[in-house]
Amino acid sequence: MNAPLPFIDLQAQYRRLKPAIDARVMRVLEHGKFILGPEVGELEAALSAFCGVRETVTVASGTEALRIPMMAEGIGPGDAVFLPAFTYTATAEVPCALGAEPVFVDVDPRSYNLDPAALARAIAATRAEGRLRPRAVVAVDLFGLPADYEAIGETCRREGLFLLSDAAQSFGASRGNRRVGALAPATATSFFPAKPLGAYGDGGAIFTDDAAKADIYRSIRFHGSNNADRYEIERIGTNGRLDTIQAAILAVKLEAYPAELAHRGAVAARYDERLPAAVRRPAREAGSASAWPLYVVETPRRDAVKAALQRQGIPTAIYYPKPMHFQPAYARHGKGPGSLPVSEALCARVLALPMHSDLDLATVDRICAAVAEALA
Ligand SMILES: Cc1ncc(COP(=O)(O)O)c(C=O)c1O
Repeated sequence: MNAPLPFIDLQAQYRRLKPAIDARVMRVLEHGKFILGPEVGELEAALSAFCGVRETVTVASGTEALRIPMMAEGIGPGDAVFLPAFTYTATAEVPCALGAEPVFVDVDPRSYNLDPAALARAIAATRAEGRLRPRAVVAVDLFGLPADYEAIGETCRREGLFLLSDAAQSFGASRGNRRVGALAPATATSFFPAKPLGAYGDGGAIFTDDAAKADIYRSIRFHGSNNADRYEIERIGTNGRLDTIQAAILAVKLEAYPAELAHRGAVAARYDERLPAAVRRPAREAGSASAWPLYVVETPRRDAVKAALQRQGIPTAIYYPKPMHFQPAYARHGKGPGSLPVSEALCARVLALPMHSDLDLATVDRICAAVAEALA
């Protein structure tokens, strides 16, 4: 019997990076600038260079990274925010918390991301109904693969809607010759510990090329204060800051990130090669590179495969067991079972296999053999 495997092995990554992380954290403890210390600005510059954007505003979480740009746009009561039904609750919760309404849209069965044709239909239906004012689209890069920003961006330009990329799962991914962060007018990512680039606590960032908007995001993250005069309050804001210790940790992890991304790409390629043909996977899009936060497969025998792997000490996870319109908190915003069939079918079939930057290929082979045995 093999020892149980971790689903994501953050301890192995810490052992690899320990000298640098410990030294940088100690430096913060010694200089004592725990909020907006020099490491925050240093990290923001490094993140901008990595993504190829002009501005990075680090924030307290991925949820704040979604909320602050929506606050800056003044999104609120009477507004419709279009987003995929197959996502994490944070995408939908933010417009609701601002008093706006989410309009759930189905996803493309190949990419699992927002279906541009379904989006155009949902906007037209909302306009025809006349109850809500279409204001924004949140495109989610589910499981690390960038959404179709050309088609979605074109729709947003035509319809006059704000496009926010929810890149909580896709930091480091690319589409065409551009990295996530540079694919939409504003992009939100998360540094939750299990994310591809994870802190040792909560964290997030907003990326944009618009310097004026970035100034507003900086103001909102610090209680709406004037960026040069902390006690001049210009707008309603929040406490949305990333703390300096997390910035120091992320600065070390960002240096290791290109090699980690390459390793996770190699792990994914091995899964692609060794898994039985009976399990479906989201399409590998030419010209796009995933950040591989997770490796997700699809099978109608999902629950049996999960149980068989569990018996062999191989952990798996289900992201997500229900589409948003099936969740009690959002049911009143949806149209019920059968209304978003692709999202509904995927939630019954998807299974995430172990994936992390320290996963070795021999272990991937063992997992693939266990999946094949479960399906035999
Ligand atoms: C798609 C998506 N959006 C938003 C978030 C929110 O990020 P955070 O947990 O950092 O607030 C997450 C992560 O959990 C996510 O997966």
